Amino acid sequence: MASKLLSVSSKLLKTTNNTINWTTLHRSGSTNAARTWFSGRSKLWTFGAVTGAAGLLLYALDASVDASSDCVHPAKQNWAHNGLLSAIDKEGVRRGYKVYKEVCSTCHTLDFIAYRNLVGVCMTEAEAKAEAEAITVQDGPDEQGNYYERPGKLSDHFPAPYPNEEAARSANNGAYPPDLSYIISARKNGEDYLFSLLTGYCDPPAGFQLREGLYYNPYFSGGAIAMGQLIDNEVVTYDDADIAPTGSQIAKDVVTFLKWTSEPDGDERKVLLLKVIIISAFLGAISYYIKRFKWSTLKTRKIVFMPEVYEQNKAKSGDKSPE
Ligand code: HEC
Repeated sequence: MASKLLSVSSKLLKTTNNTINWTTLHRSGSTNAARTWFSGRSKLWTFGAVTGAAGLLLYALDASVDASSDCVHPAKQNWAHNGLLSAIDKEGVRRGYKVYKEVCSTCHTLDFIAYRNLVGVCMTEAEAKAEAEAITVQDGPDEQGNYYERPGKLSDHFPAPYPNEEAARSANNGAYPPDLSYIISARKNGEDYLFSLLTGYCDPPAGFQLREGLYYNPYFSGGAIAMGQLIDNEVVTYDDADIAPTGSQIAKDVVTFLKWTSEPDGDERKVLLLKVIIISAFLGAISYYIKRFKWSTLKTRKIVFMPEVYEQNKAKSGDKSPE
């Protein structure tokens, strides 16, 4: 490869020495080059300016929406899973599952999570099987065409509290408790928002009109939410005696659990990203070295114009072109 480049470049040099008029080459060459340089540059500038303006506009729009929003901004919390090198807190997920099961599952579904997903994350296979067997699932039809009920299996998804949306609405004053599987990804400021929402119930300010069946929560858009305060000290008990079941601990755990349900493969993706960064850094370094090595013959070459040699060659070839 390098020797090929060498021979091509020496051939190029020979032809220039022999036949090209240097003055015209220089003149026409430089103006052309300048023209392409400028047009290339101006395109880049335009592209940069348009992208920058679009970014600024988006930022300004986002900020103005934030500023005019009708709820309090959630406080930023220090989640254990924040950061590229931090895995989700598996013990928190285990406790959060208990909170979900004992509190939230009376109203909310978790359609996209099956019992088998818990295995290896916060339960052993036997534990997850025991959890699944505690529910009854309608299955069928059997050989006689009848539907029957059986205990749950690992492959079953979490049960829904209501048979359909209408039943859910009529039991909750017309409001629909959304599926919680992806709620952390679906809300702005995910974990921080949900934590603030669950722990942020308070008395409405003077003059705030609350309709029947609504509760005041400054973190919810509009301030009136159809879900009452559910998280409080000791609404669940933990197996681990070292962890006090305070309201904020319970909220933290259920949020950690819901973070896991919205990204069950989050930890694997972090590990994959790390591998990609390490391998591409390694490959990038090798490619850079090879590129330098291959081009070194051309990059270290110095091309010198020697008028005497040029004149001699011109005389020899009898070139009559004007200077
Ligand atoms: C008594 C029933 C009930 C229980 C129990 C319940 N919720 Fe809700 N939840 C609702 C209803 C109803 C809504 C819809 C509120 C609305 O739209 O005003 C809701 C809404 C939500 C929302 C969506 C808020 C938004 O931004 O739209 C989240 C998140 C949520 N609940 C989380 C939970 C968690 C976590 C638990 C368990 C700790 C829980 N809920 C327990 C009834 C319930």
